[in-house]
Amino acid sequence: MSITLTPLHPTIGVEIGGCDLSQPLSDQAFQTLLDAYYRYSMVLIRGQQLTAEAQTALLRCFGTPKISQRREFHVPGVPEIGRVGNTKHPDGSPSAFLDRYGNLWHSDTASDNHLDGVTMLYCVKTPKVGGDTLFASSVNAYATLPDPLRRRIEGRQVTHSFNKHNDYLLAKNPGSAKPLSAEDRAKWPDRTHDLVQTHPATGRRLYFVSPTLMKNISGYSEGKSAELAAALVAHTTRPEFVLRHVWQVGDLVFWDNRASLHSASPADYAGGERLIHRGYAYVQPLAWPVDHELSAGGE
Ligand SMILES: [Fe+2]
Repeated sequence: MSITLTPLHPTIGVEIGGCDLSQPLSDQAFQTLLDAYYRYSMVLIRGQQLTAEAQTALLRCFGTPKISQRREFHVPGVPEIGRVGNTKHPDGSPSAFLDRYGNLWHSDTASDNHLDGVTMLYCVKTPKVGGDTLFASSVNAYATLPDPLRRRIEGRQVTHSFNKHNDYLLAKNPGSAKPLSAEDRAKWPDRTHDLVQTHPATGRRLYFVSPTLMKNISGYSEGKSAELAAALVAHTTRPEFVLRHVWQVGDLVFWDNRASLHSASPADYAGGERLIHRGYAYVQPLAWPVDHELSAGGE
């Protein structure tokens, strides 16, 4: 069976067909996945039957898995994979992390010094209503940014804080997870990065801001920083730039967090059950040849 690639949207996303990820991948097949990851920033592979161990093996092809601090939601025996959704244990306690406020645009990597991270989600259960995930390209966003906004961000730096975001989530929904310990919090100091960046693998220009974790943009007050970040994200996520993924059981989706933003839709599943197996890995990007004719929204 040969591997096929079908773009999902003019600016982001591709579906790969003809790929069985329950079997070890050849180097050549993984190279196809990696190429698609960099070229399209988001990849969908449907109809997979993946154990958490097989998902971890694929994650390791990209880089070093990061272990979630929400240990209570790890897949038993596989700490690289966390459970996300609204499922419950027989005693009624949550068996998956329910992020009621994930429906805000963000990048999963914003709080790290290491901005190159792949998030990999595998769908185990999906409700009939709700649970969609939205994606938008930060490369397309920079390429199409109006000049006045572009001039306001060149040469600026942005600071993100994971703890600020976590405090916000817990304040809004105390039952969704255990508060982080002081030791856990100390692992996540504030991080400062260039706002306008060159992707180290693809050479594409982009701007990197994740408003739910952002503290400020250099040279601007906190209020003006928030205003500017809102304008940037509003541009990135203009309706015509957004890919909406409607999940099916067996879907595997992974994306480049430096090059994109994503958002959950509100966690209202009309009584249905949602369970996603989530992994994340740090990636060491190697220079990668970009075909500019195929790079949607490229410079
Ligand atoms: Fe996320």
